[in-house]
Amino acid sequence: MKQKIIIIAFFVSILTILYVYYSKNSAIADRQLPIDKTEKEIVQSKTGNLAGMNGKVLIAYFSWADNTVFNQNMDVLSSASSTIPGNTAVMAQLINSQIGGELYPIKVKEAYPYDYDKCLDRAANEKIDRVRPELLNTINNFDDYDIIFLGFPNWCYTAPMAVFSFIEQYDFSNKTVIPFCSHGTGGVAGSVKDIIADLPSTTEVLPAIDINRDDMGNAETVISAWLDSIGFQNKESSSGKNS
Ligand SMILES: Cc1cc2nc3c(=O)[nH]c(=O)nc-3n(C[C@H](O)[C@H](O)[C@H](O)COP(=O)(O)O)c2cc1C
Repeated sequence: MKQKIIIIAFFVSILTILYVYYSKNSAIADRQLPIDKTEKEIVQSKTGNLAGMNGKVLIAYFSWADNTVFNQNMDVLSSASSTIPGNTAVMAQLINSQIGGELYPIKVKEAYPYDYDKCLDRAANEKIDRVRPELLNTINNFDDYDIIFLGFPNWCYTAPMAVFSFIEQYDFSNKTVIPFCSHGTGGVAGSVKDIIADLPSTTEVLPAIDINRDDMGNAETVISAWLDSIGFQNKESSSGKNS
């Protein structure tokens, strides 16, 4: 009888040790799971969780050329000032040609000067005074969009104030925002940080792309790689046209 009790106690001890060992290791494995994923996989799963690849896409963008009145006496193409189409507009069109979505130019009611220095003066003053320029149009079905690509040039180290007018005009809760920026060497500067601060905490902001205006010749390739890195497939390859 005594021998039986010793054998049972022995097996109970073994089982207890195995149970403790297994629980500890599975807890460590659970904690390590996200670290083992690549950054790309995490971004893709975030996109999938929030909006899904079938989410309705809006490509809203601000470009100087859409927000100025061209001086008829100046040669637009050779001028150092704004050109048609604007660089941000070109980026928007490239995103649209690769993944689809609705293009939406953000336009202010009061156009900016065509003269660069005068435009810079107004942009700088608007930034200092945190002006929210009135916009020309409204998107009635904004709620239908899940993913909003938001494009802008770097103006005075941030986005033009009209971009903040746009953000504050709609409810971005639980939507995904993907910034894209054109600049003249300054990169995104404070723009993305300022945009995130202006959005609700439930808005997911995916990694931005920025392209120097002098590198617009490579924009198609760069944008394609960026879209891939944040989990979007080229609409042609995803529909099998390229296979
Ligand atoms: C008013 C104004 C302010 C600008 N400020 C900056 C700046 O601070 N940093 C920078 O890198 N580029 C700056 N730029 C250059 C634009 O970001 C660049 O030319 C961009 O490609 C223009 O895009 P768009 O053609 O879509 O307007 C500024 C341009 C303007 C008109």
